[in-house]
Amino acid sequence: MESMGGLRRSHNCQALGGGDMGKEVTLMGWVLRRRDHGGVIFIDLRDRWGITQVVFNPEVNPEVHAKAHDLRSEWVIAVRGRVIERPAGMVNPKLATGAIEVLVGELRILNVSKTPPFPLDEEIEVAEGLRLKYRYLDLRRPEMTSNLVMRHQACQAMRSFLNSQDFLEIETPMLTRSTPEGARDYLVPSRVNPGRFYALPQSPQLFKQILMVAGMDRYYQIVRCFRDEDLRADRQPEFTQIDLELSFVEEEDLYTVAEGMMKELFRATLGVELTPPFPRMTYAEAMRRFGNDKPDLRFAMELVSLTDLVAHCGFKVFQTVVESGGLVKSINAKGCADFSRKDLDDLTAYVAQFGAKGLAWVKVKENGEWQSPIAKFFTDQERADMAAALDAVPGDLLFFVADTTTVVHQALSELRLELARRLGLLKKESFSFLWVTDFPLLEYDHEEKRHVAVHHPFTAPREEDIALLDTEPGKALSRAYDLVLNGTEIGGGSIRIHRQDMQDKVFRALGISPEEATDKFDFLLRALELGAPPHGGMAFGLDRLLMILAGRESIRDVIAFPKTQKATCPLTEAPSSVARKQLTELHLRPDWKE
Ligand code: AMO
Ligand code: AMP
Repeated sequence: MESMGGLRRSHNCQALGGGDMGKEVTLMGWVLRRRDHGGVIFIDLRDRWGITQVVFNPEVNPEVHAKAHDLRSEWVIAVRGRVIERPAGMVNPKLATGAIEVLVGELRILNVSKTPPFPLDEEIEVAEGLRLKYRYLDLRRPEMTSNLVMRHQACQAMRSFLNSQDFLEIETPMLTRSTPEGARDYLVPSRVNPGRFYALPQSPQLFKQILMVAGMDRYYQIVRCFRDEDLRADRQPEFTQIDLELSFVEEEDLYTVAEGMMKELFRATLGVELTPPFPRMTYAEAMRRFGNDKPDLRFAMELVSLTDLVAHCGFKVFQTVVESGGLVKSINAKGCADFSRKDLDDLTAYVAQFGAKGLAWVKVKENGEWQSPIAKFFTDQERADMAAALDAVPGDLLFFVADTTTVVHQALSELRLELARRLGLLKKESFSFLWVTDFPLLEYDHEEKRHVAVHHPFTAPREEDIALLDTEPGKALSRAYDLVLNGTEIGGGSIRIHRQDMQDKVFRALGISPEEATDKFDFLLRALELGAPPHGGMAFGLDRLLMILAGRESIRDVIAFPKTQKATCPLTEAPSSVARKQLTELHLRPDWKE
């Protein structure tokens, strides 16, 4: 192995093109591939920016050529040479540097590499556990590098937009008290305060509200949040928010800021011009039409209620469900009457996961007749009415679920997505934003036997619903809003309660006693008594946004060092056990069984 020997890199591996012909250049990087072509050796040299072909010709420089024979994948080299034209027929239009190659006069081997545990050529599928264990190799793959580059561009674009709007970037503590976002906390024991714990923030919610009381007026932070919850493809135990809070604002002001920021973001990363304002839909309408509070509007296939139509029909299942207060809803899979028996069985099994006890279906034949196990239960008139409600024409496939509201909505909204996947309706290059508004303020938690906040307990009720807090709190709607993109909740926020009397009222509706409120949120309550301005804000999930921008299926692909589904890090093997001494210093007793 050699030193850099005074060589200084003149260009990166993406920089050279037809205009550089004849130049003396020095490149450094990793050996991606080595090819021997009748004596001439070609190396694809790779760095963060791209790939340049470098050539070792035995007739031009036999010594250097001999040395190049040893080169293997992922060795680190420096080459000095001359930019030449690729021979006719060897030009690679897919590469930015595809018109040229570098004829090497000097080669320095800066480091060798063992054979990598997986090849770094883009096309190859590698098990994710292995990719995470060798994340530094995984990140060398151009596709992964470009995700991190895009993440950087995204942060820059959003920062620069918010800076232009007079926001201040302010940091808030990581070692703090439990915040009420509803997940479990990650706790950190305090050494100097025996028996006491910090919580890592689930979000900077309370601090950003206090910054408004402090008169900062417009705050943002690109901030790490920690939530100990069950993980999924779009959930990590630590993730990043773009967190905002503004004073003297109402919903419209927030929408304008968020839409402006999304516009900048899409322009800077994808060159896509968004055209705000984004459409809006109330929570109630989203549930009714899509069975879901984050509908993917890239395709239609809406849920249609047949509850009234089938209330007195001859199909016992439907009739019983309606009698017991449930729903019968349906969707029309346009043109899908050619689905096979197996397709229908698979879809029935699919919705069963979400609690559906069955999935009735109807294939509409060319003559308009129904082919269906349940056709016989309906009169001609009932069939005609249902077909009209569903806009059904020959060739369509209709699905029905009868159950409680919750099960019907969950099963049909998942079926809707599954059908869209099968039919290729989820186009990655189309971006469908939606504001979902007017969420309920509270929901009943059957385990805790009390109401809990749908967003968080600092969210303001709608002005016109305040009286309901004393009578029917479950009916009160809130001033919370979510921003949905292609069926993913990418952000959420609310107008906050800024008066202490209102905060007390909401705590009461939540069954939080004055003692508990004082114990948990005393600092906020006191701040509300000392000149808190009206304020509101929201937070965006940076990882989720990038997952969509980069067209990936998992947020793990846009995070440099993500955790597995079991919240472990295969690279560092965190979490790890610690020495007994460390535990006793922290006043923890290691008395659990392995
Ligand atoms: P909320 O809990 O809705 O609101 O979070 C805001 C956004 O953060 C993203 N997100 C996550 N991303 C990845 N992994 C997770 N585990 C995860 N949890 C949430 C989502 C979500 O929309 N303090 C409030 C915001 C406010 O009211 O201003 C809050 O945290 O995209
Ligand atoms: P059965 O008469 O129970 O054989 O059901 C006839 C059809 O109705 C089958 O296709 C079932 O999948 C469907 N089915 C049964 N229960 C329900 C339900 N709760 N909702 C929708 N379809 C159902």
